[in-house]
Amino acid sequence: MSKFTPLSTFSLAGRPVRRIGYGAMQLAGPGVFGPPKDRDAALAVLREAVASGVNHIDTSDFYGPHITNQLIREALHPYPDDLLIVTKVGAVRGEGGSWLAAIEPEDIERGVRDNLRNLGVDALDIVNFRSMGSIHAPSEGSIAKQVAALAELQRQGLVRHIGLSNVTSKQVAEAQSIVEIVCVQNQYNLVQRDDDALLDELAGKGIAYVPFFPLGGFTPIQSSVLSKVAQTIDATPMQLALAWLLHRAPNILLIPGTSSLGHLRENMQAGQISLSQEVLAELDAIA
Ligand SMILES: NC(=O)c1ccc[n+]([C@@H]2O[C@H](COP(=O)([O-])OP(=O)(O)OC[C@H]3O[C@@H](n4cnc5c(N)ncnc54)[C@H](OP(=O)(O)O)[C@@H]3O)[C@@H](O)[C@H]2O)c1
Repeated sequence: MSKFTPLSTFSLAGRPVRRIGYGAMQLAGPGVFGPPKDRDAALAVLREAVASGVNHIDTSDFYGPHITNQLIREALHPYPDDLLIVTKVGAVRGEGGSWLAAIEPEDIERGVRDNLRNLGVDALDIVNFRSMGSIHAPSEGSIAKQVAALAELQRQGLVRHIGLSNVTSKQVAEAQSIVEIVCVQNQYNLVQRDDDALLDELAGKGIAYVPFFPLGGFTPIQSSVLSKVAQTIDATPMQLALAWLLHRAPNILLIPGTSSLGHLRENMQAGQISLSQEVLAELDAIA
């Protein structure tokens, strides 16, 4: 595992993106379905994220559905020039909030158009094809049809760059044979490191790796070692979990999700934490 001082930015789609971004999924209602409990608080979190330096927001039109994008638009449109909004297609929401694969070319186009409309833009900065796999883990199978559909929308000028989510190394290679892939968004965190090899492979190619569930997702990480080490360096366990990711590889871009201003402020400070070799060794041993 490489060890280095965390860089403050990494190039994504040719733009310097700050390594601590923001994931907007937590802004929708319970189960990422329906409106937020406190709409004003959701708008305040988005505005403060950008005011405090976030220039990378992750979203999807299937969060809510539509609601998260509509909140982003209300809070931040017209968007700052340096803000990169990354969205994803490949699913829709069923009645009651179920997550359904939507993977035909017409579904991909509909997903792109939903994002354009609800974000209020003429072209999307980056669209990830989100393979449904086994929901939070990838499974093998061709994604060529979906990537080709996104490449066609890129040719039409509706999509600037293309990424992938919930995919295997083989699927990344397949997609790269069709179009340039600028980022991969898979599940990865201190206690879930199945993607170590893919992360290192992408680091070697200079491609951004964006871990989803960086804090453990709906059930944030609980580890007695993490809590103990956090106490010794005067950080919270969640700050330390983010700092570990920043130290893990230079191509990791963070998108921690929160609906709380207090947590947002805490997460933003994780970039200031420098970890010694001893602390890194203790954390590396957790998985
Ligand atoms: N591509 C995909 O398939 C996929 C899947 C899942 C997520 N995502 C993206 O990845 C982003 C990050 O994932 P996530 O939001 O699901 O999970 P996460 O960032 O790992 O964790 C979010 C959870 O941690 C809590 N939290 C946040 N900051 C905290 C802090 N400082 N202290 C204590 N608790 C804290 C949040 O609650 P509070 O709201 O109370 O802070 C929320 O329950 C999402 O927002 C979404 O944009 C993508």
